[in-house]
Amino acid sequence: MIQCAEAIVEIKDNFVYKRRVEKRYRVKEIDERIRRERTKSEAKIISEARRKGVPTPIIFDIDDYELVMERIDGDLAKEVINEAISERIGELVGILHKNGIIHGDLTTSNVIVGRDNIIYFIDFGLAFIESNTEARGVDVHVFFQSLGGTHESYEQLKESFIKGYKKTFTNAPQVLKRVREIEQRGRYVERK
Ligand SMILES: Nc1ncnc2c1ncn2[C@@H]1O[C@H](COP(=O)(O)OP(=O)(O)O)[C@@H](O)[C@H]1O
Ligand SMILES: [Mg+2]
Repeated sequence: MIQCAEAIVEIKDNFVYKRRVEKRYRVKEIDERIRRERTKSEAKIISEARRKGVPTPIIFDIDDYELVMERIDGDLAKEVINEAISERIGELVGILHKNGIIHGDLTTSNVIVGRDNIIYFIDFGLAFIESNTEARGVDVHVFFQSLGGTHESYEQLKESFIKGYKKTFTNAPQVLKRVREIEQRGRYVERK
């Protein structure tokens, strides 16, 4: 069982049960509404992404606060990423962005490299529909940050991602320019 901030994820047989748990610091009615909305929205965007050609787990069931989905057999990208995988992730993120989907928590812990070598995106709990450059830029920036923490060949992995992202998404240059601006903002904040 994996206990995270927002949800409890249990894996049984070939099913994943992701249940959003009560947050006692929120007013009960508001907490219930947030959990219901995020559960519903996650299911909707996971299915939408797959329809657009981005592999995601199949959703089998949805309850007020719980999703039952297909278990993807494989490794987290965090553990196995290389240049080829990073390029493929870039291609798939390009497809998401082209279709107005922002992942919202695009880290190497939310990408699974399947046994079948297919790359799956998971954890759409913070995903939303948006087509502006800033939202896309933040998505890519978050992904680059997640590479920085755990991997040595950061620059190569970043370049591979960019190569893939440009292949599938014509607005990529505009977004990548924004990513550089976001990085500058970060440095400015650090210096203060
Ligand atoms: N469909 C799935 N198949 C296999 N493992 C999964 C699946 N969904 C989640 N997991 C595992 O559970 C972890 C947490 O799930 P995730 O959806 O990312 O929730 P959280 O919002 O808590 O990060 C993932 O990092 C992954 O290890
Ligand atoms: Mg996650």
